[in-house]
Amino acid sequence: MAEYDWRPEQAEKSLNRILPEVEKTFAHKLRQAPHEWHKFKNRLHREWQRLFVCLHQLYGWQYDFFYTLHQILNSMVQYWLERSAELKLLDEKREADPLWFLSEKTVGGVLYVDLFSDNLARLEDHISYFKKLGLNYLHLMPLFAVPKGDSDGGYAVSDYRAINPDIGTMEELSKLGAALRDEGVSLVLDFVFNHTSDEHIWAQKAKSGDPDFMAYYYTYANRELPDQFQRYLREIFPTVKKGSFTWCEEIKRWVWTTFNSFQWDLNYTNPNVFRAMAEEMLFLANQGVEVLRLDAVAFIWKRLGTNCENQPEAHTIIRAFNAMAKIVAPCLLFKSEAIVHPDEVVRYIHPDECQLSYNPLLMALLWEALATRETKLLEHSMRHRYPIPAGCTWVNFIRCHDDIGWTFDDQDAKNVGIDPVEHRKFLNKFYTGEYPGSFARGVPFQFNADTGDVRISGTFSSLAGLEDALLKQDNELIEQAVRRINLLRSIMVSIGGIPLLYIGDEWGMLNDYTYLTDPTIVNDSRWVHRSKKRWNAREDLTDQDTLEWRFFHEMVKLIDLRKRLPALQNGGMEVIHTGSPHLFGYIRAFKEQKILIVNNFSEEPRKMDAIHLNACGVKRDVINLITNDVLSPGKDLVLSGHQSVWLDIS
Ligand code: GLC
Repeated sequence: MAEYDWRPEQAEKSLNRILPEVEKTFAHKLRQAPHEWHKFKNRLHREWQRLFVCLHQLYGWQYDFFYTLHQILNSMVQYWLERSAELKLLDEKREADPLWFLSEKTVGGVLYVDLFSDNLARLEDHISYFKKLGLNYLHLMPLFAVPKGDSDGGYAVSDYRAINPDIGTMEELSKLGAALRDEGVSLVLDFVFNHTSDEHIWAQKAKSGDPDFMAYYYTYANRELPDQFQRYLREIFPTVKKGSFTWCEEIKRWVWTTFNSFQWDLNYTNPNVFRAMAEEMLFLANQGVEVLRLDAVAFIWKRLGTNCENQPEAHTIIRAFNAMAKIVAPCLLFKSEAIVHPDEVVRYIHPDECQLSYNPLLMALLWEALATRETKLLEHSMRHRYPIPAGCTWVNFIRCHDDIGWTFDDQDAKNVGIDPVEHRKFLNKFYTGEYPGSFARGVPFQFNADTGDVRISGTFSSLAGLEDALLKQDNELIEQAVRRINLLRSIMVSIGGIPLLYIGDEWGMLNDYTYLTDPTIVNDSRWVHRSKKRWNAREDLTDQDTLEWRFFHEMVKLIDLRKRLPALQNGGMEVIHTGSPHLFGYIRAFKEQKILIVNNFSEEPRKMDAIHLNACGVKRDVINLITNDVLSPGKDLVLSGHQSVWLDIS
């Protein structure tokens, strides 16, 4: 017999006790909006049990759990009261159409405000640019107050409620959010919740010895526990610091710092940390943020004897945040940033956890197939790893602000006859341009002398061969690079999920080596693809003879085509057998519409024969939607080097 589950009953009892107290606290304000309060309570009753169960798992063993519950409900009501009427309307709109983001019309872009437009105020003048590109999801890289000098690209946050003064103010951010919404563009920001900077007020108080705030972080009087933990931990930035702990002279203790020494990991075993960060989350939601990118999700819970990544409690914390968001700011969505083993990446994807997730595996394998000119690993992995729960979607990208790591599964590689260890070495050599005949000009990132591991930095265009080709002034090589770039773009836009453009790549931005002259970032090669040049080059886009113009317009055309094809909305993606080791193909379907997409990863012309085409449903004349060419049944499909073909087989 199943064990009696006492939690639903206890959840209800707790709520029945706490809610009248909370209503008393906010009585005056609640009386002014009885209708709205009723709606809030409906959501609260719907989600409370789920929230209670998560919180009980995390903090139920602590003697003051009931107090924790009370405080959390207080915070929820407070932030809901502070939420603007306009955002409450948006909440209703999204609740009526909760899966809006799965549409083929959703296309994203991501940028650094300071590198793109210097500041927030000027960004607003360029909404038309995003519209021209067809974007309706705009992710602004971290723009909060940070320490001077190195701040890990903004990921060392000193205050979640203040914008870096060089970039603007919180008022400007809210204003921008509203302006974007007016144009149908959703604002996306980071929620850097694994750590704060060591200059955050909490860290400062901890440094002054305040025990309440020391309990916000993991600190140790000696090396005993750090050494025990360290045995199993992965080093994330081995070239800048050894190990995951940093000595803090002020308190004479070791502090847990997974990333840089100035990024202090938050201690989520402490319910005050959970509540404080939940409040920061709701504060951001109230500024008009519709999607929060949950930074470094894998690391938020530590357990001795494990690598302290992807612990079950990490999921519980996100689920609790998710339930709170559904109650207070139901339009808010989460995107997980889990750059870990693919088995672990999918575990964060669920309507009750993160509805969106980066797709680091697709990204890595597209580059892998481009280097090898073979698609077996890509095809095999995508066939069984692409499906995710209904109501969720991948965010597909080719490049982002971070490095490329080869996060494919070893067994997947072995299954298709690839030695994973040797293959990663090959890929690293290839993308740093060391491998003979390589077209790529990447830069090594975080070489680990102990393990030999390294990752790759570089822009889309430089990695795809454009930089090399331009330096050699070789037109044929330039055309090859252009074709590679268009090939990967075509897959990003069509395979299913939200395509996310790293702004600058739409016009083919190359590596920028000026970071080598800046002592604060010289050791972080990711700055080779975080270039200030984004802005200047964009202004040239009227000159039709430039490569930039060509890249930009081909991108616009492709996005436009996607938006006209309901089959490309999130949903079914079936990897097909092409019969060629160089081709990668899939069928996208929705209702009556069916599109067969075939991509050639080699420089040479390759064919998909009539038998394979017939098996995929090519039974009559079909049109290639990219070129308008017609393919008749019984004919082989011949793809030129790096060509991507979208056949309407409806
Ligand atoms: C994420 C960010 C990365 C940053 C790290 C630490 O992985 O994408 O840029 O260095 O988190 O915050």
